[in-house]
Amino acid sequence: MVLDDPRNLIGLEGLPAEELRRILDHARALRAGRDGTELAGRIVANLFFEDSTRTRCSFETAAVRLGAHVLNLSAKGSSASKGESLVDTALNIQAMGVDAIVVRTSASGGPALIAEACSTPVVNAGDGRHEHPTQALLDLCVLEDRLGSLSGRKIAIVGDILNSRVARSNLHGLTALGAQVVLVGPPTLVDESFIGMVPAVSGSVEVSHDLDAVIEEVDAIMMLRIQRERASGGLISSDYRRMYGMTTTRAARLRPEQCVLHPGPVNRGVELDGAVLDDPEHSVVLDQVAAGVWVRAAVLMRAMPS
Ligand code: NCD
Repeated sequence: MVLDDPRNLIGLEGLPAEELRRILDHARALRAGRDGTELAGRIVANLFFEDSTRTRCSFETAAVRLGAHVLNLSAKGSSASKGESLVDTALNIQAMGVDAIVVRTSASGGPALIAEACSTPVVNAGDGRHEHPTQALLDLCVLEDRLGSLSGRKIAIVGDILNSRVARSNLHGLTALGAQVVLVGPPTLVDESFIGMVPAVSGSVEVSHDLDAVIEEVDAIMMLRIQRERASGGLISSDYRRMYGMTTTRAARLRPEQCVLHPGPVNRGVELDGAVLDDPEHSVVLDQVAAGVWVRAAVLMRAMPS
């Protein structure tokens, strides 16, 4: 299969604004219409070789709401634990006649390798540090619900940018829709190289190491978890929370219209204080989870057109 097959969703890099718009509009229409039978008789294979709560369950909820069947495979309990490669696993699942493959892996580029080897459509559910396109799409959906058009809006992404596939996908999606992105974190976790990642699109990217300096000038703040499983534990100092956490003290400076996002899982009291997470005035974290179902429903229908 060629990588530019329009049924695949490997990343948001290079996806034009019109395509993002189409997926987001479709997700909203599905949200308004609720359950359907559009995917009746289809089989979605959820291959999750890295742990997941929200992404795996919302792909499954989305598939079931549209009438599809889902088969779930994880590394533990599958032959991946015996050393079978990602591509061999996908080729075998494809041979069973599934209609779409959703894949999460710690290997950056894994979904692209599967898409090259298989003719079945492939949706990336997070690959290493590379991309997490459906997470960014659901973030865009919630930000638009809250702010309207993102053109000219300024969004801060705060924390472990270096190891975050969520940050990379959001960087591409937000700038494609014309937003200004400011990446905030310690110099060990974000540097100027991120500015060059985005081609000449309508939005812009800047880098800051000072959360307090940017907090007032942004419309929304996306907090990220420290990716300890990707070796970032050694790259943070003991005053991380004081400098880069969304503490209750810092959150007291937010204007009512400024919202706080987090892809989950949250480490309460590290990047985000529990009281801020639970505060409905600013936190849209559960709205993100709710939007995820309909964004993934739209992405699954894009993967399996009728
Ligand atoms: C994120 C992921 O797995 O990339 N979570 C998610 O999918 N909702 C972020 C994270 O694990 O920190």
